[in-house]
Amino acid sequence: MTAHRQTWLDALRHAARRLGEAGIEAPLRDARLLLGEVLGADPARLILLETDPASEEDLHRFSELVTRRAGGEPVSRIKGRREFYGRPFEVGPGVLDPRPDTEVLVDACLARLPRGGRLLDLGVGSGCILLSVLAERPDASGVGVDVSESALAMAQRNAQEICPGERVAFHLADWARKGWAQTLSGPPFDIVVSNPPYIPSADIADLDREVRSFDPLLALDGGRDGLDAYRRIVSAAPGLLCPGGWLILEVGIGQAGDVTALAAAVGFSDLGALRDLTGRRRAVIGRRPETRG
Ligand SMILES: C[S@@+](CC[C@H](N)C(=O)[O-])C[C@H]1O[C@@H](n2cnc3c(N)ncnc32)[C@H](O)[C@@H]1O
Repeated sequence: MTAHRQTWLDALRHAARRLGEAGIEAPLRDARLLLGEVLGADPARLILLETDPASEEDLHRFSELVTRRAGGEPVSRIKGRREFYGRPFEVGPGVLDPRPDTEVLVDACLARLPRGGRLLDLGVGSGCILLSVLAERPDASGVGVDVSESALAMAQRNAQEICPGERVAFHLADWARKGWAQTLSGPPFDIVVSNPPYIPSADIADLDREVRSFDPLLALDGGRDGLDAYRRIVSAAPGLLCPGGWLILEVGIGQAGDVTALAAAVGFSDLGALRDLTGRRRAVIGRRPETRG
């Protein structure tokens, strides 16, 4: 009598049980995503493979990925890829895992960038905002700034895949340092966009473990009241933008009013907020006046 050889369906059920016991919210979905990664199969093909016997080698690899997921590591980090604005971005330990809600900023840039326009992305991370805009707009160019060398290396790799060529440049700078904005060369920008760190320092310990343990602290920590980066960026923005240029800032929950007030204090006009798909105020926008008052 031959022993029953484990199928991929058996392995999936076992993995989903492990993930469920570890407190993972959608255990079967995540188990399928990880198995798809191991077998190089999309969801439709995976269904066809479910009744196949599982090979020892692939089973071992699958079990390793399931163990990482059970430890709280997000699926995108395990895969090393995250879909953003319809394109695959490489993600790794040095960068924030791009969030779907940030796509609102891409739409806002695309709606306001003039023909042949120049875009500056402060805190570029994986490059998800800057590169998504430039990939949609072959006439435009842009610069991505970050204080993290590993983030810039990742953004550069993503640029080679998503927007190769001379239209994009990256620059290492720390907006907390005096004179950082003067280190940027070239004409003023039509848009300054940023998704800066905005979590108040004291709230970081209470974040979900998937965020707290896997997104870099540098990408999260917004200082005592969460507004440190906004103060720096908003005060530098008038000098970086051309007259009539737009400032577009992602904001955290409850921060839209404070960030709008910061922008109003340095003379921005046409101030407003953009809502994400859940109806929450996700970004603050403002315009540099044509003439400085
Ligand atoms: C919330 S992440 C945003 C990353 C990416 N733009 C996105 O939307 O997924 C903030 C980024 O700001 C960078 N950053 C933090 N402090 C900075 C500073 N003082 N100067 C420049 N960049 C900084 C971090 O390294 C991180 O990549």
